[in-house]
Amino acid sequence: MTERLSSTRAGIALGPLAQIPDGTARNYVLKIGEAYFHGFIVRQDNNAFGYVDACPHAGLPLAQELDHYLTSTGDLIMCSWHGALFKIQDGACIGGPCAGAKLTPWPVIVRAGELYTA
Ligand code: FES
Repeated sequence: MTERLSSTRAGIALGPLAQIPDGTARNYVLKIGEAYFHGFIVRQDNNAFGYVDACPHAGLPLAQELDHYLTSTGDLIMCSWHGALFKIQDGACIGGPCAGAKLTPWPVIVRAGELYTA
């Protein structure tokens, strides 16, 4: 079985921030050696918030449909399996079956309009 990583080293180029429309999120899968990292980034203006794509409730990837990580109003992250709700800025779960838990941060930065792991 393929190893699934829960973090990445700093300095990996992820492409332009502009590939994530403002107010939306995007899935990232990185192949690192023989292992894979699954994460997602939410963009708000020129800020990017990255998280490991694993729900603290049951460990599943949050989105069942590609890049659908946010509520319809775009102000919260939502797990598509059992409806857990998370704050975009810090990943804190504020509703659903894992209230009080947190998404695992995936540190990313924006430099000159480009995204990198941090
Ligand atoms: S796996 Fe995310 S709410 Fe259950």
